[in-house]
Amino acid sequence: MLSYLHGFHAGNFADVHKHSALVLILAHLQKKTKPFCVIDTHAGAGWYDLASLQAQKTGEWKGGIAAVQQEQRVPVDLVPYLDLIEDFVPDNRGLGVEFEAGMDGDEVLEPPLYYPGSPFIVQKMLREDDHLSVMELHPREYETLDRRLYHDRRVTLQKRDGYEGLVAMVPPHIRRGLVLMDPSYDVKQDYARAARSIIAAYRRWATATYMLWYPILEDGFDHELHDMFRQIPATGGVLCSEIAASHGGGKGRMLGSGLLVVNPPYQFDAQLAAIGDWLRDVVHLPGPGVHYQDWLVKAQ
Ligand SMILES: C[S@@+](CC[C@H](N)C(=O)[O-])C[C@H]1O[C@@H](n2cnc3c(N)ncnc32)[C@H](O)[C@@H]1O
Repeated sequence: MLSYLHGFHAGNFADVHKHSALVLILAHLQKKTKPFCVIDTHAGAGWYDLASLQAQKTGEWKGGIAAVQQEQRVPVDLVPYLDLIEDFVPDNRGLGVEFEAGMDGDEVLEPPLYYPGSPFIVQKMLREDDHLSVMELHPREYETLDRRLYHDRRVTLQKRDGYEGLVAMVPPHIRRGLVLMDPSYDVKQDYARAARSIIAAYRRWATATYMLWYPILEDGFDHELHDMFRQIPATGGVLCSEIAASHGGGKGRMLGSGLLVVNPPYQFDAQLAAIGDWLRDVVHLPGPGVHYQDWLVKAQ
């Protein structure tokens, strides 16, 4: 079942949490000249028009990226992410290809504001010899992404199941790298499938960094997820970061955003902790905000 479309949620508080962590990890990978690769198992459409009817319908970005952009003072480690978002302009903007109101039947409102999803955030941070492998299963999201990315020789895109595809693709030719897994959790089995896929990939490629995003729900499965990640014998440890409302979710509503990071880069924990403390008080959560961060497996 593929009912989820990220266009309704782009730029929300969970995207800010996830994408600021993504930019931090990529900045660490850029510190060495040796090429790196990124595998993005659940890619979405690539970027999103926040003036589209989809985004306007939920308005989730107002409590996420817009709330953050209104702040005068931000944590220093959030600046590269904010600069990337602010500077993001889709390549083919102005060509009239994807911006015509008729694309999704959406009306384009002024002023347009585009929010990059994970494939374009990574693409902006790739160097000449770095590589990005992208998987997306939804036919329309895949086609959109293909149109937007096909011209970049550093990027390969597959219409493929990201859980199975990840395990089949590792270890990649370029051995330094990051796996981002950001499922849509249409079905509750996604929690266990994500954990099993990362555990299997880790056995073949133990030096990579893995980042899994998950929603925190009132009746969620994050405890089982944590238990599974506690079994990963990662020398770099397994870090958990959550920004959530302590209550107020209601049935099926997202209380918060969680990240599990296997083998995070050196000092990433301190950077993410400072960002999380700040985001807790700035983004709009459905109730009083709590920020939790701890190691599920200690780094050796
Ligand atoms: C949360 S969205 C991804 C957002 C994107 N990572 C970002 O940060 O901008 C999840 C995406 O996964 C896709 N998807 C769902 N199941 C999948 C699967 N088994 N394999 C690959 N993609 C899948 C959905 O169609 C959806 O576009």
